[in-house]
Amino acid sequence: MKNILNAPFVREMCETTANMYRLGWDERNGGNISYLLDEGEVAAYLDVRKVLREIPTGFDAKPLAGKYFIVTGTGKYFKNVEKDPETNLGVIRIKEDGTTAQLLWGYRDGGRFTSELPAHLMSHMARLSVDPENRVVMHTHPTHTLAMNYVHELDEKKFTHTLWEMCTECIVVFPDGIGVLPWMLCGTNAIGEATAEKMKEFRLVVWGMHGIYGAGRTMDETFGLIETVEKAAQIYMLTAHLPRKNTIRDGEMKSLADLFGVKCREDFLDL
Ligand code: 13P
Ligand code: ZN
Repeated sequence: MKNILNAPFVREMCETTANMYRLGWDERNGGNISYLLDEGEVAAYLDVRKVLREIPTGFDAKPLAGKYFIVTGTGKYFKNVEKDPETNLGVIRIKEDGTTAQLLWGYRDGGRFTSELPAHLMSHMARLSVDPENRVVMHTHPTHTLAMNYVHELDEKKFTHTLWEMCTECIVVFPDGIGVLPWMLCGTNAIGEATAEKMKEFRLVVWGMHGIYGAGRTMDETFGLIETVEKAAQIYMLTAHLPRKNTIRDGEMKSLADLFGVKCREDFLDL
C-alpha cells in the first residue's frame, strides 16, 4: 500500500488550502473543500474495507452512496492542512443508507467533516446531474467578493454583469454567471438545499455577506473560477467610488463569448 500522504489528491488538498490561506481568503477555520475520488484512486492508498468510524450526516445523500470524498475538517484551519493533513482532512465514503459517512482516513484528533457538508454533498449531487465529470466543490471567504456584497445589490443578473465588466476574460471564464443567495444561516440543510438548487444552473454561488461556493471538474478549474471572481471584485472595489470613464460594453462581451465559443447567459446582458 502506498503512503497516502503522497497521494495526488492529498497533495492537491494541501496545495490548494495553503494557496487559499496565502491569499487571505480563509481566515481561522473559514472555508472548506470536498473532492470526489474514484474507488481505485483511494484503494491504492487505503484498505477500503477498513472503516475507522461511522459519522451520521443528518441528511440524505443516497445518490452518492458508495462514493468517496476527501473533505476538510470542521473547525480546522487551512493554514495548518499542509503540516498535518491527517488531522485536518478526512477520506469518507457515503454508506448505502445515504445518511452515514464512513471514515476511512483522517480527522485523527476525533474530529469530523466540515459543518458545511450538506451544501457540499447536495451541490455535488446537483452538479453531477448536469455534469457527470464534476468532482470539486469549494467554499471560501474571498475578501473583495465579500466586501462587494455590502455595497452592491445582491441580484444575480446585476452582480454577474458588474463582474463581467471588470475583466475582459470574466465572461469567458464564467459565462454561466453567478447565482446569489441572500444571507442565510450557514451549516444547515436549508442553505445546502438552496445552494444545490442554484448549482443546477451555476458553477458559482455567492452566499450573501458570507462567501462563495464554486464547483468544477478539477481543483484548478474550481479555484480558477473563484480566483477570477475575486480579481473582478477587487477591481470593482478599487473603482466603485471613483467616476467611471470607461467600460466593456454588452455587445463586446457577447463577441468575446462568441470568439471563445462559450454560451453565455444572454439574459444577463442588455443586447
Ligand atoms: P467549517 O470549519 O465547519 O468547515 O466551517 C467553516 C466555514 O466557512 C463555515 O461556512
Ligand atoms: Zn464559510
